[in-house]
Amino acid sequence: MKRVGILTSGGDCQALNATMRGVGKGLYNELGSDVEIYGFEEGYKGLIYNEYRLLTARDFSGILTRGGTILGSSRQSFKNMRIPDENGLDKVAAMKQNYRRLDLDCLVILGGNGTQKTANLLSEEGLNIIHLPKTIDNDIWGTDMTFGFQSAVDIATNCIDCIHTTAASHGRVFIVEVMGHKVGWLTLHAGIAGGADIVLIPEIPYDIDKVCEAIQRRNKAKKGFTILAVAEGAISKEDAALSKKEYKNKLANYQYPSVSYELAEQIMQRTGADVRVTVPGHTQRGGSPVPYDRVLSTRLGARAAQLIIQEEYGYMVGIINGETCKVPLGEVAGKLKMVDPNSGIIEEAKMIGISFGD
Ligand code: F6P
Repeated sequence: MKRVGILTSGGDCQALNATMRGVGKGLYNELGSDVEIYGFEEGYKGLIYNEYRLLTARDFSGILTRGGTILGSSRQSFKNMRIPDENGLDKVAAMKQNYRRLDLDCLVILGGNGTQKTANLLSEEGLNIIHLPKTIDNDIWGTDMTFGFQSAVDIATNCIDCIHTTAASHGRVFIVEVMGHKVGWLTLHAGIAGGADIVLIPEIPYDIDKVCEAIQRRNKAKKGFTILAVAEGAISKEDAALSKKEYKNKLANYQYPSVSYELAEQIMQRTGADVRVTVPGHTQRGGSPVPYDRVLSTRLGARAAQLIIQEEYGYMVGIINGETCKVPLGEVAGKLKMVDPNSGIIEEAKMIGISFGD
């Protein structure tokens, strides 16, 4: 009998259920009644406080297209894991104890960067762990693609598509602020797919003069409107030159809700354009997974099930060059996968006239 724990941690995305389904169906299909799967509620919280439920084969049916997570999720920062809770409970010790209490053979953890660091910690502490790379940010090292990313690209692209018509009608400059945390993958892909004229990402600090020049070039060419896809983590050259402390101070006294609003004001002042900001926000994590994610999630989940059956632990399951792979957790935990400013995709985007403000 195999006893498997599973949890979803951190910000949700569209394909968490689809991925769990891959794991669950893979295990039940191969092992039948020789497997029991325990789902921990609300991420690591469920593991810390021993809140779980048995997941039968039925629980994994009908959830391929359902966004969110049937287990719930919570953000438990890696930093806080080492700090006892308000009642003095040692969280890492509690997680180990609950794992042992249920006599688990392994624990499958679906989550992003922070989640992965805790997964690696638990692996180092002797638990059998498999990590599955979830995030709309696509910033996990060791996999070409994270599940959730393509679904978010779809939504952010749709937002830019919708903005196009109204931007054109009113001859406005529109900033669409795209999620992605500290990296620009989502903005870059949605920006290209949505036909944005200017794409600003954290990996390429922008020069406000260059951004305004690009807008004015379009005005001169009688384009009538300009669309900027701006990553929530985009940063100006000026700010990038600040020390960490200075930048932190700036943000602490920031008068804008986000970088896009400061940018909008600067563009208005310098070009006289009528500028609007649109923030699709958490819609980018909502709704159903797109077909690409459904396939990716199914494959990653099934591969995780295979590793469990073969008793191979301490890995993240990723996808490289179209094939699923297992990557030792210790090799990837704590690393951020950023857009390479010198990569082909940036060069090709520039070839067709997209400005990165650099
Ligand atoms: O990591 C996913 C993500 O959606 C980021 O793109 C974004 O910065 C962050 O989570 C938002 O977090 P929260 O849901 O906690 O506001």
